[in-house]
Amino acid sequence: MMSKAPEIEFSQVSKRFGAGPLVLDGLDLRAAPGEFISVIGPSGCGKTTFLRMVAGLSQPSGGEIRFGIQSDDARPELAFIFQEATLLPWLTVLANIELPLRLRGEPLARRRKTAERLAAELGLGAAGRYHPRQLSGGMKMRVSLARALSLSPDVLLLDEPFGALDAITRNRLNEDLLALHRREGWSAFFVTHSVTEAVFLADRILVLAADPARVETIIPVDLPRERTLALRESDEFHDAVAEATRRMHNILAR
Ligand SMILES: Nc1ncnc2c1ncn2[C@@H]1O[C@H](COP(=O)(O)OP(=O)(O)OP(=O)(O)O)[C@@H](O)[C@H]1O
Ligand SMILES: [Mg+2]
Repeated sequence: MMSKAPEIEFSQVSKRFGAGPLVLDGLDLRAAPGEFISVIGPSGCGKTTFLRMVAGLSQPSGGEIRFGIQSDDARPELAFIFQEATLLPWLTVLANIELPLRLRGEPLARRRKTAERLAAELGLGAAGRYHPRQLSGGMKMRVSLARALSLSPDVLLLDEPFGALDAITRNRLNEDLLALHRREGWSAFFVTHSVTEAVFLADRILVLAADPARVETIIPVDLPRERTLALRESDEFHDAVAEATRRMHNILAR
């Protein structure tokens, strides 16, 4: 099912907690429907805070975040994915995937069909009856992704989802995530500490800085949208990573 990803417009968004210092100041950004934006910046600069504001879990102190007009006038469906897979240990893979649908009251036969499709799409077809303790870290993250996708989100918010995984597993998940993105068309904000991962995934990279809080730069990634292993090995890709690293020099050097 193609999502109805909205345009998302940030105008002069700022955030401070109580009387504390500014965490984010003057963020202006217009994200196109279906755009994939990587978010990078030093620890504590406000990346998680930014995602929480997009999700409506935290309100900006100044400015506003607007979602483009949708035909049905509803708020877009948003899904959050964290570094920890946070699966329920007593439920099987399929039952974990379909949990949001169950909470929403969808009948068993329908939600099971969705869970089976998502399990297959994420390469978990053979593990449907397993429990979380029987899964590797990468598989747990695949279940977490499938569960997030079960509600057909319009916007995916990913907070360092692959940070704890080894490089090979992480690269595979990067490619699989992009394949799903191409097919389903949601918008994504993806927080990472890896410049390589940020470049591989994104249409644009939002670089945040701390002290003072601000948008350091927004870097367009000028690579073909089809991102494959072959692309990852190309000079073109290495050049893009080098260029992004150069433009992030100020924050990486701190
Ligand atoms: N609920 C809160 N109340 C007060 N301060 C908060 C709250 N949430 C976050 N902060 C502060 O806002 C700043 C940004 O925190 P945030 O978690 O967004 O950083 P981050 O960029 O995600 O860091 P990391 O890379 O370590 O995950 C920090 O100084 C943090 O202490
Ligand atoms: Mg964080």
